[in-house]
Amino acid sequence: MKEELLQKINDRTLVAGVVGLGYVGLPLAVEKAKAGFTTIGFDVQSAKVEMVNAGHNYIGDVVDSDLAELVKAGKLRATSDFSFIRDVDFVAICVPTPLDSHQEPDISYVRESTMAISRYLKKGTMVVLESTTYPGTTEELIKPLLEEGSGLVCGRDFYLGFSPERVDPGNLIYKTKNTPKVVGAVTKDGGEVISAMYRAVLEGEVFTVSSPAVAEMEKILENTYRNINIGLINEIGRLCHEMGISVWEVIDAAKTKPYGFQAFYPGPGLGGHCIPLDPYYLTWKAREYGFHTTLIENSMVINDSQPEYCVDRAMHILNRHKKAINGAKVLLLGVAYKNDIDDYRESPAIRVYKELLKVGAEVSYFDPWVPSFKNMYGVSGESLPELTPEVVRGFDLVMVTAAHHNVDYAMVQKNAVAIFDTKNVMKDITPRENIEVL
Ligand SMILES: NC(=O)c1ccc[n+]([C@@H]2O[C@H](COP(=O)([O-])OP(=O)(O)OC[C@H]3O[C@@H](n4cnc5c(N)ncnc54)[C@H](O)[C@@H]3O)[C@@H](O)[C@H]2O)c1
Repeated sequence: MKEELLQKINDRTLVAGVVGLGYVGLPLAVEKAKAGFTTIGFDVQSAKVEMVNAGHNYIGDVVDSDLAELVKAGKLRATSDFSFIRDVDFVAICVPTPLDSHQEPDISYVRESTMAISRYLKKGTMVVLESTTYPGTTEELIKPLLEEGSGLVCGRDFYLGFSPERVDPGNLIYKTKNTPKVVGAVTKDGGEVISAMYRAVLEGEVFTVSSPAVAEMEKILENTYRNINIGLINEIGRLCHEMGISVWEVIDAAKTKPYGFQAFYPGPGLGGHCIPLDPYYLTWKAREYGFHTTLIENSMVINDSQPEYCVDRAMHILNRHKKAINGAKVLLLGVAYKNDIDDYRESPAIRVYKELLKVGAEVSYFDPWVPSFKNMYGVSGESLPELTPEVVRGFDLVMVTAAHHNVDYAMVQKNAVAIFDTKNVMKDITPRENIEVL
């Protein structure tokens, strides 16, 4: 089985499958097709399937013409019909891993897509989970589901592994293609062929580790590391504010140390489908071992309270203008979870929005990337169509909540009564009398 698969990888006769055509899956499917593999994308959303088959791109990190050309050349197609799993030799699972209403892992997408794959799994297929999840998922959940559904045996009839996705949407240097990849598989042979497949597709180095659990844990470590360091800097930021010290200047000074320090920045909280959620997967799993991840949980307490902290600071700014927050007109600049992207999942800006509504503010937003958003933290909204001096003058407070580059901040400074910049994106704008920084 191993030799046959290695041969198919080398001569590009291997057919690749990607389940879940979102921010992670679509770029991955495009890279596989670009590397010469006929690729089939699977998604339960028929709208996405139709768009891919029409050559229409909907993910920022995919080049429109790449997708259109690959579809036209017959190298890439999409379907909702899982019976085509029979046609693939490699399948990557890239479905969501959110939290449920009790902040516990919602593994249902992984379970359902695995069961759908298991019904059509044929001998000699490689299955790789890419969704971020708790350590143990691949061997404890996926392996038995695949074996029961297919009647095949892992290691003998098919290979199974975990390879965490590291895509950083909007990153102009590191894309799916050139980001190093980690692979951990259930058997040694599995690790070898799955790694060979990624090497055939990607430019980034591929590191093979000894088990799926190591790969699952290293991904959670990456994201928890960010979560904790952001928690630390948010706490230092609050203390600096009390002490009248600029945390931004402190970070710039600390950054001059050429080793042992990596800069993280304060902000209105954590956002996106990864950093705010993944540590909960770990703390949930840790409880099975009677283990308390105290440091991680403390950091989440700080980060989770950052939107309320920002609203509290906004209230003090308005207070200085003899204005109550109840009834104040507040304009949020940016509701995406980070700069220059259209993704607003778990966006802290929307939590700020919600907190402002709670205390009676009249909230509007402008975001050139997010024309509207629906039901995030129970809030929906539509962006103002444009940001003009008249619009800015109509608000009691402008809060910068995402550091987008395509906003005219100099114009905002000239016309706003008061500005609360939670991202320090206006650092080079003068004069600064009406600007307060987080
Ligand atoms: N977005 C990121 O920046 C990022 C980065 C690294 C890792 N991840 C991880 O990658 C995984 C996917 O994230 P994403 O941002 O691509 O999510 P996404 O919501 O953009 O895409 C997931 C896709 O899976 C589809 N899907 C859901 N259930 C399915 C099923 N049963 N069968 C087939 N398709 C199904 C959805 O319709 C959707 O198109 C998550 O575990 C996430 O934590 C995301």
